[in-house]
Amino acid sequence: MISETLLPATGQPVSAAQQLKDRIRNRTARVGVIGLGYVGLPLAVEFAKQGFDVTGIDVQGSKVDEFNSGHSYVKDVSDDVFGPLIRGGKLRATTDFSVLTELDTVDICVPTPLRKTKDPDMSFVVAASDEVAKYLHPGLLVMLESTTYPGTTDELVLPKLEATGLIVGKDFFLCFSPERVDPGNAKFHTRNIPKVVGGITPVCTEVGALFYQQSLDTVVSVSSTRVAEMVKLLENTFRMINIGLVNEMALMCDRMQIDVWEVIDAAATKPFGFMPFYPGPGLGGHCIPIDPFYLSWKSKEAGIEARFIDLAGYINGRMPEFVVEKIQNALNDEGKPLKNSHVHVLGVAYKRDIDDVRESPALDIIALLERRGARVTYTDRYVRKIRKDGGDLHSVELYPAVEEADCCVIVTDHTGIDYSAIADKAKLILDTRNALKGKRSHKIVRL
Ligand SMILES: NC(=O)c1ccc[n+]([C@@H]2O[C@H](COP(=O)([O-])OP(=O)(O)OC[C@H]3O[C@@H](n4cnc5c(N)ncnc54)[C@H](O)[C@@H]3O)[C@@H](O)[C@H]2O)c1
Repeated sequence: MISETLLPATGQPVSAAQQLKDRIRNRTARVGVIGLGYVGLPLAVEFAKQGFDVTGIDVQGSKVDEFNSGHSYVKDVSDDVFGPLIRGGKLRATTDFSVLTELDTVDICVPTPLRKTKDPDMSFVVAASDEVAKYLHPGLLVMLESTTYPGTTDELVLPKLEATGLIVGKDFFLCFSPERVDPGNAKFHTRNIPKVVGGITPVCTEVGALFYQQSLDTVVSVSSTRVAEMVKLLENTFRMINIGLVNEMALMCDRMQIDVWEVIDAAATKPFGFMPFYPGPGLGGHCIPIDPFYLSWKSKEAGIEARFIDLAGYINGRMPEFVVEKIQNALNDEGKPLKNSHVHVLGVAYKRDIDDVRESPALDIIALLERRGARVTYTDRYVRKIRKDGGDLHSVELYPAVEEADCCVIVTDHTGIDYSAIADKAKLILDTRNALKGKRSHKIVRL
């Protein structure tokens, strides 16, 4: 925490910004992270690895206990890296927000889900900002990392902090810096994904950028918090709309009996002006299915309808139904009704090689299958059980489930699995991910 210091030569007070910059440069700044989930834990680890003293804050006592035990519950961070930081005293967690009085920086990484009405649920950001405001002190750098609509930092967070009487850019510093981490990505992780940062004032941006430069490879400064907020929404909306386009292509190709995967592979040989996206059973995770709706909600307020987002949302949202129709038709061709058939789902995480089922299309597919009378089992080595209406469903051994099922469906293509051998053993298999690329058999059905 910064107290008034005078410049020896002039007797003038050293600005809070200068004192904080010095602390950041010499790694004596005490760092905080609010929200210790998929984003917060890896971020806290990166700061601690660079020699900062880091305190994580979370409202879930059980998570804090697990964190302090030295066990990493985030798959991308190994215990070999995490454990020594905890045991060495560089990293710890607490549920007590009063620790903020001791900190020099704090990153807010709390959830930003959608309400059922597809409106942003800002309650977590509001709660975290209220706690920061309660313990705000001169010299604190506050960074919001949660994905959100443009205007959140200056319209929602800033007024709470300035209500304390402290002035932004002079007494404390406020930035937005979107988190771009891609769980399960072996090449790009917290440290080597360029970090965009925009502050409320130029001094805020400067201090924020300096802070991230200590721990991350590349920092990209932008002119405002709103630009930084919009950057993340552009990235994720771009992805969601392109997936919607290619899913629509898949629906068209299905009707015209054209192999959409072969079409994409050939189109991707064009060395300019084309970027391949692949169809699938539907969107999942905490980002792509949600973030664009933050933008469409805000743009409606500005009088602009986000038509691309709504359309792509509609098409992507239909994919689980399309998958179930394909299963039903494939069974029909074998003379079997879906009702009372056994369908075995391969992979339920929302994407390859992760353990997260939030918004996973597998959950919708399983619910639709069960509603139509199918008996459903699944195998996913990363997801031991899923909660659903009517009781938990547990992952079962791959064999004999694959041989017993009337139809298998590859929903998530985790690596290290011999899908070709599975297809040989299965009575019928629907491949929604092109995991059986190049393999031909009358019992293989593709998306
Ligand atoms: N998961 C991703 O791949 C990813 C990638 C980029 C951006 N994001 C964004 O980052 C943000 C966090 O996502 P996540 O996946 O880490 O979520 P998460 O659910 O894994 O973790 C959030 C954590 O915040 C805690 N929390 C909730 N309210 C709190 C409060 N008031 N104070 C302290 N802690 C609180 C929760 O207990 C939880 O541990 C979201 O806005 C998300 O959109 C996520």
